[in-house]
Amino acid sequence: MAEYERHQHDVLVVGAGGAGLRAAIEAASTGARVGLVCKSLLGKAHTVMAEGGVAAALGNVDDRDNWRVHFADTMRGGQYMNNWRMAELHAKEAPARVNELEAWGAVFDRTPDGKILQRNFGGHKSPRLAHVGDRTGLEMIRTLQDHAIHQGIDVHMECTVIDLFKDGDRITGALAYDRERGRFRIFEAKAIVLATGGIGRAFHITSNSWEYTGDGQSLAYRAGAALQDMEFVQFHPTGMVWPPSVRGILVTEGVRGEGGILVNKEGRRFMFDDIPENYRSQTADNEEEGWRYVQGDKNARRPPELLTRDHVARCIMREVREGRGSPHGGVFLDISWIKSRITNPTEHIKKKLPSMYHQFKQLADIDITTEPMEVGPTTHYMMGGIKVDGDTQMSTVSGLFAAGESAAGLHGANRLGGNSLSDLLVFGKRAGEHAAAFASKTTAGSISSEAVDVSARKALDPFDRAESASNMEGPYQVQHALQEMMQSLVGIVRLENEMQQALDGLEALRDRAKRVSVTGNREFNPGWHTALDLDNLLTVAEAVTRSAIERKESRGGHFRDDFPEKSAAYAGFNILVARNDDGSMTVSRQPIPEMRADLKQIVEENK
Ligand code: FUM
Repeated sequence: MAEYERHQHDVLVVGAGGAGLRAAIEAASTGARVGLVCKSLLGKAHTVMAEGGVAAALGNVDDRDNWRVHFADTMRGGQYMNNWRMAELHAKEAPARVNELEAWGAVFDRTPDGKILQRNFGGHKSPRLAHVGDRTGLEMIRTLQDHAIHQGIDVHMECTVIDLFKDGDRITGALAYDRERGRFRIFEAKAIVLATGGIGRAFHITSNSWEYTGDGQSLAYRAGAALQDMEFVQFHPTGMVWPPSVRGILVTEGVRGEGGILVNKEGRRFMFDDIPENYRSQTADNEEEGWRYVQGDKNARRPPELLTRDHVARCIMREVREGRGSPHGGVFLDISWIKSRITNPTEHIKKKLPSMYHQFKQLADIDITTEPMEVGPTTHYMMGGIKVDGDTQMSTVSGLFAAGESAAGLHGANRLGGNSLSDLLVFGKRAGEHAAAFASKTTAGSISSEAVDVSARKALDPFDRAESASNMEGPYQVQHALQEMMQSLVGIVRLENEMQQALDGLEALRDRAKRVSVTGNREFNPGWHTALDLDNLLTVAEAVTRSAIERKESRGGHFRDDFPEKSAAYAGFNILVARNDDGSMTVSRQPIPEMRADLKQIVEENK
């Protein structure tokens, strides 16, 4: 045990994006000793990829907005698969969390009378997204980070957690390695908050960077916690498609919120062709009305480009499959068309969408003020994740909490844009508060030195294998094969036989992963780190595939070509994923608790 560096905390927060930072701030405010572990450098988080805004019913632009409408929008967007208690808390508490962020120094765009400005986004009835141009997530991370570093939190950067430890049923700590020296660290903790983000790296085309390998979901699963809704993966409709090196990078929904339109190669605005029945009364059926909505006419209906993400992504796929796509397999997103409608369009676009302007200019040599962008769906977000209690965010394992993208529940079958940023503020705070309260009532548990040794030895296996056998391969080949397979067999459009094929493929990839070898030494060795990420990727990929096979219907982010309609048999159920004692994975249906009567009424009133 002497060779391990040891740290003791009351609350250990794993992941330092928005949810982790907010949890750490809250836990530290109670006087708890808090450790914050980040896989990457502090401030580098997928939170910055929520560019267009944070959803909160402030009612600054449309005074008809309030928490009830936000709640109803979130439930409708999630196709009623949501944890309704979380949707209630989220809608009620998001405004306070945004105002608090402003008090901590976030500089939001303003209305002419000095309030926080809000913009339109898909599925939100009113302009609801408080924003900072198209850099909202970045500004939020900056603010949370600036605030957190003054709270006496111990930050462990470039440090990856590889195992959790339990004493009986209760969580007691974690083992991690640091990237720089490759040394192991033991974290003793009375409570742990997992806030590690999503699983985007299980797919080939993604807006997620290298860190998002499903670590929290996999750690929790291996510790015995249940996962939920893993079939619901969000494919954001607009990622870059060209050039190949930047494929998947996000093109914010804010472009459509500011009036951007989607057209196919024939120049047709195809989103008018397919407006779902339950959104028909809220959706414009002609260009003029859609434009009036964007301009702030409260009596106009929203343009069809602002339908929910699942629907827009599928419409884009249909255009591509039926041969009406753009040259590189996407469609066109055009904001430059507004030049015929407003004065100073170039300045306007650059002011509202500065990052998009630079992103396309520098990466694709496209001037978005005069030319359309080529875009297509990109794996962006995971609605499913660790099953948590709606109020406390505790998982099904005592002392283990989860918040933000790694937790399931709030978004149901499909997340509305901007609800991720409010999610991480509301539930990051709640997780931090409840983890600290849990820790204050608990004495430190013990970590078995044998368990630590087993885990550390397993982590070093890829080095040992390099010296032994001949049929070895590198971790990148296995990772790449997994991503390609998940993209093509368990992607936007799913089929039973393809997913069964994926299960077989995953088994074969597990065998390959066991033979992966790495060379070099433990100091900053990305090959070794990739080898260690493989187990997490394989676990979440299997959970997605099994859950997607189990849900024999289409709903939200989960679309099955063999079951293209919603089915009443699945309407009231979440799919749970659990680990059996022999290490195998099992999925089951769990009924969603009946919604409280007052909330049902809100849903009815806002239909
Ligand atoms: O399109 C976007 O700006 C992404 C926002 C989100 O994922 O919430």
